[in-house]
Amino acid sequence: MRSNDQSPMQDYIRTLYAPESDLLREIREVLAERRLSIHVSPEEGKLLQMLVRLSGTKQIVEIGTLGGYSALWMAAALPEGGHLTTFERSANHAALARDFIARSPYKDRITLIEGDAHAALRSTPFAQGVDLVFIDAEKAGYPDYLDWAETLLKPGGLVVGDNTKLFGTVCEETPPAKTDEEMWNAMRAFNQRLADTSKYEALMLPTGEGMTVAIRKP
Ligand code: DHB
Ligand code: MG
Repeated sequence: MRSNDQSPMQDYIRTLYAPESDLLREIREVLAERRLSIHVSPEEGKLLQMLVRLSGTKQIVEIGTLGGYSALWMAAALPEGGHLTTFERSANHAALARDFIARSPYKDRITLIEGDAHAALRSTPFAQGVDLVFIDAEKAGYPDYLDWAETLLKPGGLVVGDNTKLFGTVCEETPPAKTDEEMWNAMRAFNQRLADTSKYEALMLPTGEGMTVAIRKP
């Protein structure tokens, strides 16, 4: 996958600014063995971690856990009393992530909820509201995840979406032949909604996959 391409420049950046813990490296290696290298890159993990720290985020919701890689990057920046709730539909991925999270120093600040997040999000109470929502699950579902986020996100809170370039297709005027139309329409709509300056201040960071960061206005 693109996010794991290794150029000398990327290697330089990673070594200097985004060194992984042994556990993070192990997660990446295990995912690679299982042909599941669709997690964020180390530098994207570091960016997410810095967003958590910069925004003073206490309550994180992640949609799409995979192996727990991005969750562990983000959880490391949570303040005392902060919490990350992560949703994963695949039982295999959830089992993998549960094990890695349990071995991490952040196990007490992470809750993994297994199941379809579209429903599970709505049956999970977030009494303290939500400061940051990281969406990295099935792409056709992004607009519905945003609907949910808008009900709970605090003013000044962040919506972060991965893969918002939709594998290089989102800038086309019509969905390319081999692209799933529902998915393409969903990502177009998601990006369009976050570009609404009456509700958000936002930017798609031009990472390999595109990562949109949006601040919810009051
Ligand atoms: C895919 C999904 C991702 O979230 C990602 O970052 C890269 C690829 C995929 O479904 O192929
Ligand atoms: Mg992704």
